[in-house]
Amino acid sequence: MTKKIFSGVQPSGNLHLGNYLGAIKNFVDLQNQKETECIYCIVDLHAITVKQEPKELKKNIRETLATFIASGLNYEKSIIFNQSSVTAHAEGAWILSCTARMGWLNRMTQFKEKAGKDKEKASVGLYAYPVLMAADILLYDATHVPVGHDQKQHLELCRDIAQRFNSDFNVEDFLKVPEPLIQKNFSRIMSLKDGMKKMSKSDPSDLSRINLTDEKDLIVNKIKKAKTDNMPMPAIEENLEKRPEVENLLGIYSSLSNQTLDQSKKEFDGKNFSDFKEKLSDLLVEKITPISKEIKKLLNDSKNLDNILYDGSQKADKIASKKIKKIKELIGF
Ligand code: TYM
Repeated sequence: MTKKIFSGVQPSGNLHLGNYLGAIKNFVDLQNQKETECIYCIVDLHAITVKQEPKELKKNIRETLATFIASGLNYEKSIIFNQSSVTAHAEGAWILSCTARMGWLNRMTQFKEKAGKDKEKASVGLYAYPVLMAADILLYDATHVPVGHDQKQHLELCRDIAQRFNSDFNVEDFLKVPEPLIQKNFSRIMSLKDGMKKMSKSDPSDLSRINLTDEKDLIVNKIKKAKTDNMPMPAIEENLEKRPEVENLLGIYSSLSNQTLDQSKKEFDGKNFSDFKEKLSDLLVEKITPISKEIKKLLNDSKNLDNILYDGSQKADKIASKKIKKIKELIGF
């Protein structure tokens, strides 16, 4: 059976190693597998749930597309587009917001984290954001959704919304209930400064993350400064629960070299941290700098990027507009 893959990334600048290892690298692997149809969306409607400067947003949409292509996505194999250019997303989100329950949304931990202490000042969009995400997925009958661990709860909500809609309108299997595709081992890349916090574009310290646009010297410097501890490199049998920074760095190394954590522990057992950090920097430079160079090259031709998005949006619109039409018929519009 052909797997229908859908996923999205916000164009909010500073795409980083967490986005790459948790999501974009898998997007590329899935695109290159047999029997998959992949749709990747630059979710600009999601981005405006927090304040955006219009010129920056435009730049970041192009930069996200450039990052996709530089990482190996091929716009002839996959549909790549930006969300706001396909109107069915906003329509679908409204309709599904009448299916989703307040109680379900009240449980969303990401809203609580993002809204912080002053929930009253958060936008309504930030609160309703997971419903828009559900519309994204359900409009394309996606069967599988590759995401990082932080999106797991949103996907569970999407499944609940699909099931509730099908049951409310008595249409079995009309909205397809999607499966999350979350990597087992490296689905949470943590900050380089604090192993308990996820690597994030909103962290005020740039030293906390490797950006996909970072150049060699910056990467080397960030790894040099990455937090570790005073203990030796762990042996294979050592549990790393109490050493989250070390586990994170070894996880990054493992993921980039396509090996298991145990294999990486074995490789560095008995070695110094400085040896490990040097190898990790080399590997990051090898994998990330070709991406950052390609991003810069692609950004020189914004017309080309806009054309790619336009073509992708046309293709996406064909699929989504059919589905939204059926949804409206079911509702009685
Ligand atoms: P966003 O833009 O915050 O992140 C994009 C993807 O990167 C993953 N990610 C991480 N993975 C591992 N470690 C990290 N530190 C890390 N930080 C980010 C995220 O899990 C995500 O897969 N709501 C989504 C975008 C979205 C979407 C969708 C995704 C909108 N509609 C439909 C899937 C399907 C978001 O804000 O991701």
